[in-house]
Amino acid sequence: MIGARGAISTCVAYGLSGLRQGLLEPVGLTTECSPLNRMDLAGIDAIVLGGHEIAEAGSTAVAGELVRAGVLPAEVVAAGSGDAAAFDASIRPGILDLAEVGRADLDPAAASMGGASPRAKVDRLREDIESFRRETGVGRVVVVYLASAEPAIEESPHWNDLAAFEKALDGEGEFPASSLYAYSALTAGCPFVNFTPNHGSSIEALRQLAIERGLPHCGNDGKTGETLLKTALAPMFQKRALRVLAWQGYNMLGNRDGETLRDPLRRAKKCRNKDAPLHQILGDDRTHTQVGIDFVPSLHDWKTAMDFVHFEGFLGAKMSLQFTWAGSDSALAAPLVIDLVRLAEFAARKGESGEMPQTACFFKSPLAGGSHDFHEQHRELVKYALKHAT
Ligand SMILES: NC(=O)c1ccc[n+]([C@@H]2O[C@H](COP(=O)([O-])OP(=O)(O)OC[C@H]3O[C@@H](n4cnc5c(N)ncnc54)[C@H](O)[C@@H]3O)[C@@H](O)[C@H]2O)c1
Repeated sequence: MIGARGAISTCVAYGLSGLRQGLLEPVGLTTECSPLNRMDLAGIDAIVLGGHEIAEAGSTAVAGELVRAGVLPAEVVAAGSGDAAAFDASIRPGILDLAEVGRADLDPAAASMGGASPRAKVDRLREDIESFRRETGVGRVVVVYLASAEPAIEESPHWNDLAAFEKALDGEGEFPASSLYAYSALTAGCPFVNFTPNHGSSIEALRQLAIERGLPHCGNDGKTGETLLKTALAPMFQKRALRVLAWQGYNMLGNRDGETLRDPLRRAKKCRNKDAPLHQILGDDRTHTQVGIDFVPSLHDWKTAMDFVHFEGFLGAKMSLQFTWAGSDSALAAPLVIDLVRLAEFAARKGESGEMPQTACFFKSPLAGGSHDFHEQHRELVKYALKHAT
């Protein structure tokens, strides 16, 4: 897990530990439901965690914060302390995105790589992945990107072609850290899952690399809350021929992700990912839509989204729907991460390569494109599972 001391990674680590010890039920895990549970997926017990992080060990005390916020049960944290310590000890220093240089809580080893060449960074990451594989003896490594949202940077021509990308690694080329991680994962023979709005493996050069290496990859940006609800509800308006005049969404979140998204450059991509699906589902250019995100520290992990849908029916009658979603962002995301790891490992084992269209229902901006309608996306996942069910 990249971003291994973040809120989602912490919930994945304690969640897996709690499941193994029988302290938790697999609520929220799609892969534990029929027909996915009839596929030959890796067992929960078979998953060994490792990761990269740029924040110093102990500097974030994320588990304690999540207990205080009412997300992680204290007994699961107490019972999982041994597993958590082993995981923490296996975390390696990450590579910095330019925007993180100078952050106060940086791991000195990560900070010292700040000025290294892109080639030196990807070589180091690949060696780390390979040594994790050797040390743990796991059959396959899946790299999941769970680091902070990156600021939007202008796309460079070398992102569009693999040969140019590889040449630029030796020069001065600009790269998002997420794409350097994705490159390292794919060249180490690992499937890559990007749960964030960051570029990751979605740039053309890395799509080419995944095909060349025969590896599956998927992303971008986990669909866990407001967008999940929007893409489940919007098809209803469209199917009943009701005209959606406006869909305004306002999100408040108080965790570190929310703090990161205060930066307008980092927020821009997230807002686009949250807005675009509506237009595609409703198919009406006239629909007025807008998404706002604000940081409200007291909410901590409890993301609150308020949506106002103004719509028109027969005779021009104007009506509205308003809803408020209050969800624990990390508790919603963690089981999806486990699902995606199992699906990516399975796809790699079956020799699949490319963008994993079966995982579209997990993402706001699916790599393989296609419909944003949650029901249609979920049907594709079920179809895939039935094809592989035993
Ligand atoms: N929670 C959700 O529902 C949800 C949904 C969709 C997307 N996401 C995305 O998932 C990501 C993780 O969310 P979170 O709540 O765990 O965030 P978080 O801020 O708690 O954790 C991110 C972690 O990444 C680390 N990090 C930053 N840059 C790094 C780098 N270059 N290398 C290694 N580590 C790095 C940070 O130090 C931090 O520990 C965010 O990008 C968020 O936007 C979350």
